[in-house]
Amino acid sequence: MDNNWQPDDFFSGDNDSPRVPSGESIIEPDSVTGHDGRTYHGYKQGKYFLPNDPAEQDRLDMQHANLTLLLEGKLACAPVYNPEWIMDVATGTGIWALDFARQNPHSKVVGSDLSKIQPDLETSVPNCEFIKEDAEEEWIYDHKFDYVHLRLCVSCFNDHRTVMKHAFDNLNPGGWIEYQDSTADPYRYLGTAEGSAFKRWADLFLSSGAALGRDMLVTNKYEGWLIETGFVDVVEKRLPWPLSPWPDNPRLREVGRFNRTTWPFMATRKILVSGSGLPEQQVDQIIADAKRELADVRNMFFVPFWIVYGRKPFDWEVKKLTANIEHTGENESGGERIAPVPDKSQGS
Ligand SMILES: C[S@@+](CC[C@H](N)C(=O)[O-])C[C@H]1O[C@@H](n2cnc3c(N)ncnc32)[C@H](O)[C@@H]1O
Repeated sequence: MDNNWQPDDFFSGDNDSPRVPSGESIIEPDSVTGHDGRTYHGYKQGKYFLPNDPAEQDRLDMQHANLTLLLEGKLACAPVYNPEWIMDVATGTGIWALDFARQNPHSKVVGSDLSKIQPDLETSVPNCEFIKEDAEEEWIYDHKFDYVHLRLCVSCFNDHRTVMKHAFDNLNPGGWIEYQDSTADPYRYLGTAEGSAFKRWADLFLSSGAALGRDMLVTNKYEGWLIETGFVDVVEKRLPWPLSPWPDNPRLREVGRFNRTTWPFMATRKILVSGSGLPEQQVDQIIADAKRELADVRNMFFVPFWIVYGRKPFDWEVKKLTANIEHTGENESGGERIAPVPDKSQGS
């Protein structure tokens, strides 16, 4: 094998350029063909805006390689130990679920998605199964989970809190939920993204998403919503996700090289076209300008990559916390007073 192998040798760096088929794509018979000639999920048609065709499946698999590198090989950042049941919500091609199952042969992994585009590897990876379901609908399982994983789901749900609540209800006490996600919120290592073509694309993406009822910056809200839902020990981390191979650090440079290929300009084109109402040619020009600018390493673009996780408390923790609040009006940490303040105007 050529020691100088780079992903760009196989993928030209343009999502819409001819690509080498992986030979592993799965045809989802339930798919519908969009106006753009790409296929989309047919079950709950129209709920999710990105395609499910072979090009998208390859992009997702490459993106998995990208993120595994970003996270230095870690599939999970939450402190999960020997989890029995794992749920990978919106699993895509199932590549994360399969890797997790292979690395944890004593765990059982379930991957759910609107599209059945995961390989049937029942024989080689018997501890991983996939189901077609909408994660916003009731989760019906005859067991609870110990770890729920959601990666790159920013554009997926009408109401992320519904999914968080399902996860909470379906986790064992002590179980963890983890989001690994990003936003089209561009930064430059040196200088500002303001006024750039990439920022113009990002702004159009955000406004088009909003027009279709999706908050593409919702990642900002995960931490607060996890706490509101009842999770404890909530941790939020933000990593820079380089979008071209500009960093000096070889690992991050490689991540940037992947991102030059896997950043979803073409996969999200439909969102821009249907959300903005702009003529397709104008949208294509905005994409082309942003792509050209992003590919130039001197521009040093990155977006935040978020890791947010939290734990479902044990029953004794909830009881102790409730008792403490009833007794002193203070929460466990002795911090903020949450008992009602007596109304002084009534006298004492
Ligand atoms: C950007 S892909 C991410 C896939 C995978 N998590 C990964 O990181 O490779 C989002 C996936 O979410 C799925 N999806 C979107 N909305 C969903 C929903 N309401 N319920 C279940 N899956 C959903 C899509 O079909 C798609 O496969």
